[in-house]
Amino acid sequence: MYLREHWYVAALSAELETRPLSRQILGEYVALFRNESGQVVAFADQCPHRGYPLSLGKVVGDQLICGYHGFTFDCSGTCVAVPGQDRVPSKADVRSYPVVEQGLWVWIWMGHGAPDMESLPETPWLVDTEHWSAVSGVAKIDAPFHLLVDNLLDLSHETYLHNGSIGTPEVATTPFEVEVDNEPGVVRVFRHMNAVECPPFYSRTTGLSGQVDRWQDIDYTPPGYYLLHARIANVGEPPLPDGTDDHGFHMKIFYGLTPSTETSVYDFWALSRDFCVGESEIDQFLEKMQIAVVQEDVDALNILQRRAASNPEMTEVSVKIDRGGLAARRMLASMEEAALAI
Ligand SMILES: [Fe+2]
Repeated sequence: MYLREHWYVAALSAELETRPLSRQILGEYVALFRNESGQVVAFADQCPHRGYPLSLGKVVGDQLICGYHGFTFDCSGTCVAVPGQDRVPSKADVRSYPVVEQGLWVWIWMGHGAPDMESLPETPWLVDTEHWSAVSGVAKIDAPFHLLVDNLLDLSHETYLHNGSIGTPEVATTPFEVEVDNEPGVVRVFRHMNAVECPPFYSRTTGLSGQVDRWQDIDYTPPGYYLLHARIANVGEPPLPDGTDDHGFHMKIFYGLTPSTETSVYDFWALSRDFCVGESEIDQFLEKMQIAVVQEDVDALNILQRRAASNPEMTEVSVKIDRGGLAARRMLASMEEAALAI
């Protein structure tokens, strides 16, 4: 089932222009576009007239015109013109989804009720370009949402799947802590590695080499928002949890987990850093590295899903490294139960 009364990342800001983009989110086709003023708009991607995809229509000024018969909609989804008659039927309006553009990402509210603005994640690091530089991207995975949750809550897989970029032996062997905060609903996983090898992903960008202190602190806010605070510093000068230390290098690594269908998920990502700010060479390096890392996850999850689909009897064995993932599964299950009870 889908958890609808939540915010999800719908698109990267850079993906949206006046030419509409069609994206299936929580099983619903959505047409996303900018009007000519630059405002982001999201409509159900289906003309109320004969069901033609509105994403194949054309933006003129602040209106979208259906590419089949010319039904015309303003930015709220109200139909303002139909061909061949003056009267516009009220049933001709199209569903408009609340959207918020925040830095590099566009959030969408998939619920049928009013959007809960309190629960909209705040990502000032994606907006404050004076102190942070960010790169972002998106990949689609042919595997269910919960496999991506498992993947991101258990970073021990870095050692094996991402060996050579972010994975070093200590990621898998260092003990970690899991905390569950049921109100408002966050799963936290802390892994603090001291005097460990600096992986290539960070040595090239921070200038540190040899051994470092490396912290990975995850805040997962189910269902769709994941933030990894990645901190690197010289051995013996551990980074501070609040990131205010000058000697540490801090990255905030965001993932937006957006179910597309029951068996596919969008994996939005953004890396923000507080060092080498504004250096385009570092942007390019990190973007290239992260695309490769994400592709390794995509390939692994696609294979996993193909195997799982061909063997519905497949069972699992959970061990200590799965504690974060299991905590997330439990939280998601209780959210699903609560949603069903409404
Ligand atoms: Fe991974």
